[in-house]
Amino acid sequence: MALRKNKYSETLVKAKKILADNIYTLSLRGKVYRRIIPSKSFYVHQWNWDSATHAMATVYFDEDLALDEIRSLVSGQWKNGMIPHIVFNPKEKIYFPGPKFWGTDKFGFSSGITQPPLLAISILHIYKTAKNRGKAQKFLEEMLPKLDKYHNYLKKYRDGEGSGLLTIIHPWESGTDNSPRFDKYLLEIDLKDIPKEVIQIVRRFRTDIKIGEKTTRPLMEDYYRYIYLIFLYRNLGWNYRKIVADSPFAIKDTFFSSIWAASNLALSDLFMLTGDKIKAKKFKIMAEQTRRAIKKSFDPKEETIALFAPIIAGGIDEEQFKILMRILKDRKRFWSKFPVPSTSLDSSNFDSFRYWRGPLWPIINMLLIEGLTSQNKIQKELLKKTLDLIKKKGFFECYNSQNGNPAGFPNFSWTAAIFTYLYCKYYL
Ligand code: GLC
Repeated sequence: MALRKNKYSETLVKAKKILADNIYTLSLRGKVYRRIIPSKSFYVHQWNWDSATHAMATVYFDEDLALDEIRSLVSGQWKNGMIPHIVFNPKEKIYFPGPKFWGTDKFGFSSGITQPPLLAISILHIYKTAKNRGKAQKFLEEMLPKLDKYHNYLKKYRDGEGSGLLTIIHPWESGTDNSPRFDKYLLEIDLKDIPKEVIQIVRRFRTDIKIGEKTTRPLMEDYYRYIYLIFLYRNLGWNYRKIVADSPFAIKDTFFSSIWAASNLALSDLFMLTGDKIKAKKFKIMAEQTRRAIKKSFDPKEETIALFAPIIAGGIDEEQFKILMRILKDRKRFWSKFPVPSTSLDSSNFDSFRYWRGPLWPIINMLLIEGLTSQNKIQKELLKKTLDLIKKKGFFECYNSQNGNPAGFPNFSWTAAIFTYLYCKYYL
């Protein structure tokens, strides 16, 4: 691809280098897979929504790599349709909790929970962008039944009551792990009720605070609860009906649901492309139902980026759009010097260092940029601010939203991918 030289060209070269450096080729059940891991320092396996994003970027310069990455991710799909949040690499040991703790070996070599379902959006983008039409077509035909199964799993087990909103069973499923919006639910789990063996395992094996900067990571009391939930689900044999019914943490999440709405629309488009009008209609109706439910549960006082769910879901009405734009551009709330903070600046829970409680995460900026129309001035502004920050500070997991300082792990594929995707989509 011939690129015009402009102020982002050199950053793009660096982004591609990070993505190439973080490729991991491995053999699983006698098959060879190629995937990009988020970071060599800690996230050494394959993460669901990270990978969906990586492939949206690599399709611009290495189509085979994009297809391989998605194939590697869906190789972890369970029989019931669930696509896990982590697909493990048996050779890697530094990440905790590893495969043994999840107790999922009956189902696959993966975690037992999912992540925001960005996959259909990613596959639609890959299909539309890939130059090799033959391979793109084959890929689409291969992926559609798997996406169909995944979306049916989410509908069946996470929206049994048909509300249009999905239930998440772990903060990690939201992708925004220690967001303050989960605090009140987690606090209902009394630490005294957590078995000693779980507490000891966390104390002994938690690695993120040894490898990463402790002040930026979730607190110990959060981790006890995270690991306890996994322990409970393992004891329920990963039976999702029982889990959703019995879990102390089974909550409706509008952020997760907003990606679900956008993804159902993408899946509807994908079915339309293959002429399956019935399924195309089914997923479009599901998307519309979720949009309505998100619109109804809108709360302008929400203190985290979940507030912007109606923008991510799409189909927002004018009145809500105006309110949200006002909040987004409010310097006391979400228009920090380096927007968008994961938690509102005026929230008592805002913390500029700690993970999803304040820092800026490129994925959120990307979702908002995609949700705003191309005519929108704010979209352009946010796009430029996002690319400029990454260009200036390098490819980190997240950034302090007040002074732009890097936070989290370095040489981060997700950030490199988002930079590449946004640049190639909006600047080329
Ligand atoms: C963290 C993030 C999650 C991401 C993962 C890998 O756990 O909260 O959203 O997928 O890291 O980058």
